[in-house]
Order: sequence, then C-alpha cells, then structure tokens
Amino acid sequence: MTDKSKQDRVVIFDTTLRDGEQSPGATMTHDEKLEIAEMLDEMGVDIIEAGFPIASEGDFAAVSDIAKQAKQSVICGLARANFKDIDRCWEAVKHARRPRIHTFIGTSPLHRAIPNLDMDQMAERIHDTVTHARNLCDNVQWSPMDATRTEHDYLCRVVEIAIKAGATTINIPDTVGYTAPRESAALIRMLIEKVPGADEIIFATHCHNDLGMATANALAAVEAGARQIECTINGLGERAGNTALEEVVMALKVRNDIMPYRTGIDTTKIMNVSRRVAAVSGFPVQFNKAIVGKNAFAHESGIHQDGMLKNAETFEIMRPEDIGLAATNLVMGKHSGRAALRSKLKDLGYDLADNQLNDVFVRFKALADRKKEVYDDDLVALMTDQASEAAGDLMQVKFLRVICGTEAPQSADLILTIDGKDHQVTAQGDGPVDAAFNAVKKLFPHDARLALYQVHAVTEGTDAQATVSVRLEEDGKIVTGQSSDTDTVVASARAYVSALNNLVVRRAKTKPEDELKSAG
Ligand code: KIV
Ligand code: ZN
Repeated sequence: MTDKSKQDRVVIFDTTLRDGEQSPGATMTHDEKLEIAEMLDEMGVDIIEAGFPIASEGDFAAVSDIAKQAKQSVICGLARANFKDIDRCWEAVKHARRPRIHTFIGTSPLHRAIPNLDMDQMAERIHDTVTHARNLCDNVQWSPMDATRTEHDYLCRVVEIAIKAGATTINIPDTVGYTAPRESAALIRMLIEKVPGADEIIFATHCHNDLGMATANALAAVEAGARQIECTINGLGERAGNTALEEVVMALKVRNDIMPYRTGIDTTKIMNVSRRVAAVSGFPVQFNKAIVGKNAFAHESGIHQDGMLKNAETFEIMRPEDIGLAATNLVMGKHSGRAALRSKLKDLGYDLADNQLNDVFVRFKALADRKKEVYDDDLVALMTDQASEAAGDLMQVKFLRVICGTEAPQSADLILTIDGKDHQVTAQGDGPVDAAFNAVKKLFPHDARLALYQVHAVTEGTDAQATVSVRLEEDGKIVTGQSSDTDTVVASARAYVSALNNLVVRRAKTKPEDELKSAG
C-alpha cells in the first residue's frame, strides 16, 4: 500500500456489541451477538468491539466466542484501567487471529474525582495499565474517557504517556455528546501537533449523539487527521447513541469529492445488518433515519415521483442498491414455492440449511394464507420472530381468544404451555392487550415492570403484520421479547411471553459482576 493510500484509509471500529448493547433495553443473547459479529466481519468492519469481558460471565463468553469465530476483523474487548480487567479482557480476546485490548479511564475533572486520583496518580495509573496491556497484546487502544471535557494540557500529557507505554491507537471519546464539529477537528489537530509520538499511532474518534452531531463530529475529526471512526449500526448506543456506521461510511462514499477517504466496508451489506440489529436489539429504526430508514429512499410526492421516473438522480444522491436494498421488491404469496422463498431469503441475508428452510416454509405458508401479499419486511419479521423460535423456552402461547368491543371490560381466554403442561385461564382487562397480559400474569405471577410496549405495522394495509416489542424490568435488569403476527393481540401476548422466557433465563444467569457495566 502506498503512503498516500494508507493516509486515505479510515478504519471502521464497530462497537454495536459493546457501547450499543450497553444502552438500556438493547440486550442481545449470546447467539445473537455471534450472528451480528459474523455479519460485521463479512461486511468488512476492521475492528469489532465485542464486549466488556469482566462485566459478566455472559460478556466474557460472547467476546471469547466471537474472537474464535472471527475471520478478518480485529476483535477487541473493553477493560477499565486495572490489571484484573485487562487480564480478563486478554483471556477473552486472545483466541482471535487479531486481538486488541481497549483500556480506558475518565480524565476530565469530573471523572478524575470518581476514583479520587490526582493528576499525577492518574498519569501513573495510565502508564502502568497501558504497559501491562501491551505486555499481553501488541495491539492496544487507550481512551481518555470524557476527553472533550478534559483540560488540553493534561490531555496532551496523558496521551503522550499512553503512547510511550505502548498504545497503538489513541481514541478520543466525546463521552457525553458535548462537542461540535469545529471543536472536534481542533482537538485532534492539537493532539497531532503537540504530542510527541503522535505520528506513530492512529487517532480514533468516538462520538455520542446527545446533540445530534455525532456523525458530523466524527467526519470533522477525520478531516483533521483521525483515521479510526468508532460507530454502531443504526447509531445504537448509550442515551442518544453513537455515530452511525451507515452514515459515516455512506457520507465518505457519496461525498468522496470533498472527503477523499476510503473504508473497507461492503456497503451493499448495510441494509441487512441494520435490519438484523434492529430486530435483535428491539430498537426499531426511525422511519426517516438517514440511509437505513424506511423512508430514506421513498418518494411520495407527485413532483418527486415524476422526477424520479425521468432520472433517479433528480432526487437521489445514492442508489438503493448501494446499501443492499433490492431494486425490485418481489412480492411473495401463497403460490410461491420453496425455491423462490430460499432465493428471496438469501437476498435478504438469510442463508438457510434445508431443515431451517422447511421450518420457515411452514410459517411462511401460514402467513401467506392469512395475508395475500408477503413483502420483504414481512419475511424479515418472520425470520426475527423470537416467539416462534421457542424450542427451548419455558412457556408458549397455545391458544388465545379475546372478547372485545365497546363495552368494557374485555376478557381473554388463554392456554399457556408451561414446561410442557397446558394451563388454562380467563382474565379481564382494560382493552384486549391488557386482558391477554393479565391472563399470562395469572398463570405466571411475577413482579417485573412493563418498561415498554411498542407496536409497529410491518407493511401497509389492514392485513399488515404487527411487530410487537415488549421490554420488562426486574431488579434493574432488562429483558425484551418480540413477536409478529397479523393479529396484534396474539403478537402482543407472544412478545410478552417471549420476554418472560428471557427473564427466566436471565434470572438463572445473572451474576453480581453485571453491576460493573458502566462505561460510556
Ligand atoms: O463514550 C465513551 O467514553 C466510551 C469509552 C469507554 C470509550 O464508550
Ligand atoms: Zn461511548
């Protein structure tokens, strides 16, 4: 690679599985994390931050299994600035062909007050922990958390210490989403100019979106010399989220005339990864979200449609195919066969073995019987219906009939299979969904709080499927459940039961170390 092309190359560091998964309610299962990591690897993500190994046994197992499965990507784990965290992180990432340890400490005045270290003591801690990490792994990233609110002189001092101790990447986090583009660029420029050894390492930018500036801040940092962008799919992440991968990657591609930098991302895989992350995290993508929103390529108004028909470039700055949105939305129906379904699912990113296809085909036929036209989004909903993947689950909804109308209260007859045995109950409620939930609760009493109940129509029309997401909270732990059906009340009951199944698993697995999850 020439020096010029090295300079033009921007490394994409995806933290969907760490910063993204940390956002309340976005918890993913072990298998889901492995699946997302595989998709990220295949789409050309350079570095995958797979988790925070010391946070829980579950995080450790996910990071080490992702490390074992990774083909191309560097696999990174997060560690606080202490030897125990760093050792645990190394235990998990060492299985990767290309491991990385990412260690961090909060350097701003507010963050320094937490471990009660003065500036010198913190500097010494940084030296010792980065040295320790570098003795274990030759690829070490160090982050001064809340860098954008750290005194500039002190930031230069600690970055220099980390570089001397062996850090190969220095990440500059805007932990609270406070900075603005000009400032983001100036900070990177200042570090590059002032810190000895800065030209030996890569500067990274890690922006949160509290003021809606995460993408702009990341791009400004690149223009100033940062060569690693930390981001997440769909912008998932703490509070308002992180820089969205799809936004920075497509901005660099579409506006390469003014931002002449390259990434290694296969952009045609963006849409499938986005859909999958939305499904497993339970965080739907807003309709007007840049790049991956449902409306991002929809042209409703007459003038727009007319212009589009004459020349797509009239209103489109990128082609739907560039992000993997099929140019044709081939509609499936009850006469579609197995081969057509297999090919359609393949286009949507699901490569199924024969036995998996058989199972999906049965569910597809059942859906097509109730719904004349089955669209891509219906199939994605079918594939991500957690409630239908219920083989190992404690409970399943076997039968549900709700009587509702203008006269309250509504009532629900429910048969719930719990541990292989059928249990029947009737319950009343304020509306059909409330009645169905009360019936479930009668058969499986619990104190979990309903933190979110959300219904989305998958497509248009009165026969559209509804995707229902349910989030439950118990003792500060959050679990989610999701289900889709043409009957909203059935989807709701299944999603609720799916969340309860996840709660049962969560109760069994929860370890006290879970309390540690507190990095930005
Ligand atoms: O936002 C932040 O500061 C972080 C660090 C752990 C890098 O996520
Ligand atoms: Zn963060």
